[in-house]
Amino acid sequence: MRCFLTASLVVASLAGHVYGHRHVAPTSLEEGRTSHRRKSLGFGPEHPHAVFHSTPYQIQTNGFTPMDPAMDPLEVARIFVEDVLMGKLSESSTYRIRGDSYTDKNTGVTHVYVRQLVNGLEVADGDMNINIKDGMVLSYGNSFFNGVTPEPFTNVNAFRDPRQEACETMYNSFMSFQPTHPVDSEQIIMGQAPTPSADIHEAQHLLHDNCGLMSFPEHLNSDDMSDFRPALLQFMATATPNADVAGDILNRFTHHKDSMKVSQTSHFAPSHDEQPIEFTVDNVPDAVNPVKAKLAYIQVPTEGGETTELHLVWKFEVEMQDNWYETSVSATAPHKIISVVDWASDAPIPKVPQVVPATYNVFKWGINDPAVGSRSIEKENFDSLASPVGWHAIPYAHDPSFKGVRLTTNDFYRNTTTTWGNNVFAQENWEGQNAYIYNYRPDAGSKNEFHYEYDPQETEKPDAMDEAQKYINTTITQLFYTTNMVHDLYYRYGFDEVAGNFQQYNFGRGGAENDGVIANAQDGSGFNNANFMTPPDGQNGRMRMYLWNTALPYRDGDLEAGIVIHELSHGLSTRLTGGPANSGCLGWGESGGMGEGWGDFLATTIRSNKIYSDYAMGAWAANRESGIRNYVYSLDETVNPSTYKTLDKPGYWGVHAIGEVWAEILWVVSQKLIEKHGYSDDLFPPAPLEDGTVPAGDFYRPSKKGPLVPKYGNSLIVQLVLNGMKLQTCRPSFFDARDAIIQADQVLTGGENFCELWAGFSARGLGQDASVINRTPWGGGVRTNGYSVPPACKDYVTPKEASI
Ligand SMILES: *[C@@H]1O[C@H](CO)[C@@H](O)[C@H](O)[C@H]1NC(C)=O
Ligand SMILES: *[C@@H]1O[C@H](CO)[C@@H](O)[C@H](O)[C@H]1NC(C)=O
Repeated sequence: MRCFLTASLVVASLAGHVYGHRHVAPTSLEEGRTSHRRKSLGFGPEHPHAVFHSTPYQIQTNGFTPMDPAMDPLEVARIFVEDVLMGKLSESSTYRIRGDSYTDKNTGVTHVYVRQLVNGLEVADGDMNINIKDGMVLSYGNSFFNGVTPEPFTNVNAFRDPRQEACETMYNSFMSFQPTHPVDSEQIIMGQAPTPSADIHEAQHLLHDNCGLMSFPEHLNSDDMSDFRPALLQFMATATPNADVAGDILNRFTHHKDSMKVSQTSHFAPSHDEQPIEFTVDNVPDAVNPVKAKLAYIQVPTEGGETTELHLVWKFEVEMQDNWYETSVSATAPHKIISVVDWASDAPIPKVPQVVPATYNVFKWGINDPAVGSRSIEKENFDSLASPVGWHAIPYAHDPSFKGVRLTTNDFYRNTTTTWGNNVFAQENWEGQNAYIYNYRPDAGSKNEFHYEYDPQETEKPDAMDEAQKYINTTITQLFYTTNMVHDLYYRYGFDEVAGNFQQYNFGRGGAENDGVIANAQDGSGFNNANFMTPPDGQNGRMRMYLWNTALPYRDGDLEAGIVIHELSHGLSTRLTGGPANSGCLGWGESGGMGEGWGDFLATTIRSNKIYSDYAMGAWAANRESGIRNYVYSLDETVNPSTYKTLDKPGYWGVHAIGEVWAEILWVVSQKLIEKHGYSDDLFPPAPLEDGTVPAGDFYRPSKKGPLVPKYGNSLIVQLVLNGMKLQTCRPSFFDARDAIIQADQVLTGGENFCELWAGFSARGLGQDASVINRTPWGGGVRTNGYSVPPACKDYVTPKEASI
């Protein structure tokens, strides 16, 4: 459940998930308003043994001594994993260092991500993240399975190697292929009429190349673990928001099963650690793209919940209209859904010559919404480090609108006068579909002036939509501007190519490419909300912004920077937590909640001013002074009383409510740093010099060596929050995320804000002695606030407390 809307707008619509049960967000109809609620599933097993160790003491007691500072960090990681962690595991347990591991340029910390394999199969939730600097392991998280591993699959009847089977059946079906096999009328209607000659040709081709086309022989019955189609169909029947589709899947199960076309993904090069085989499946009902499937293990808590055991599952990646699921479904009947993460998060929220840099008539960066300022003409003042060629240039080779087009130019870059560039594709999406390339977007012409009027009038309700659509040029322009600003800002705080940011082209700076943000303005798939889908690095993020029918004229979420920033921050936190290639670390419970909270916190920090003030989220769009959360963000406990213990309250199981508590805690922490270091009016670091070095300016502390340290409290907390995301473990708890921020300060400044940070966390119950018992996957449990700080800080008194 990741909907931006809260109980205040859709009464009592946020209920918790129950492990193993499906949960459907209700559609709400308030006073005749059609308010589209996206159905979203999110749950999974708890990991009672998972840890995040962030103090040298904890690491030394594991018997690890620092290595030579010059040693390759990946080698250090390997030694650490083998010496300290793997020794305790069974022999069939191995590991793989993931390719998305990277070194942070500023801090010098190498973030290494490790995946557990058992019997050669991935353990879907067996994750390690190890943070290394100068030969030292600074911290690590570990959720590797440490129990008794199941027998490998030697029994052919119990499990047949899909790879071998693929080749056998492929060969058989090719040999028995009938060139004129019957075509049923339904297939024609569905546009899937097979053309025999093409099929034969394709089959031959695939068989020849990689033995890749696989069809399941009829004699294998449905409880055969190697046939994942029944598991997939059962998941689709549960996941589809459309009851007719669900009914059709169940009624015509065999038909749907037989219509699926399964192929084996061929990897360009064999990987030395033998990746388990992957399949892609076409013709899956309600999926908008081929589904990816692979066999894996997942950890499920045993009776009593003290330990876990491994279950064999099919792991699917399913892209649907409004959801993008990563799910693990039991490989054996009854195909229970064991975990599911929706990579989508709601927030309730032809060649032209190079022209002059663009200008935009927009609510300038820092103006949160139309209620707090007016528009002005702003330049395309892109950050030269973050966006070296600006916001309107994109290499032809990385431009989806030129996919498959034979080029008649030798130019590398294509320059646009539309809201189409390397970081962002912004367009209308009134139909609410997935297509975006040919959707409408404004063309500013050779002067590149995106100057459009904005003067919506109050109309009768039935005309409100038409009225809003008149200003589509304005709203797309604003969305493009804000999204690019956020790209550039986060880049400068370390969300760069290797860390998994969103860009079509990475300028040879590493990371996976072709993943700019698809930003849909006035998306027709809903009202009064917004959402963001974050697949792993190398696949486009997709943001849908909605109109809000909370007032006349309608309010347009594209114009409220806080909502856009909240959404884009899902992409940030999902890619930074657990590594760029793992989008499954912030799925539910406390981690999912923090995924919401970081967005609120960053949006609030970005809009804040030197003179302290409280802020609401989404107040303009929702037409509600106190916004869409339970409380406004405030230092004053009588205004916002949220503490760690608040998570135990009824109504605090949904990720947005949990996120609100986390954002409030971070807000309090940030003020401690502002009290100490002062406030910077500009969160953007200075542009680099010609030689590529970044000057300190008034932004960073002067320093000859070591990492760049933001000088002021508000810029420092943004840096620590981002660095903390990189350090923390997959599926972090509040404690883990707190410890990661404190360690981020240790790495960046040598720990000089140790006491301020603890003072901030403990002020809202997240002190050293805070505790939780019986935590449940969806955020339940019994929490105790802790107000104590480490002994080193006991004499520490904040200026505010001193004055009382
Ligand atoms: C397009 O933009 C790129 C990158 O800014 C620039 O190098 C190139 O000269 C431009 N191309 C044209 C035809 O103006
Ligand atoms: C939007 O801008 C284009 C030029 O980019 C203009 O032709 C069109 O009329 C504008 N649309 C509206 C609805 O104002």
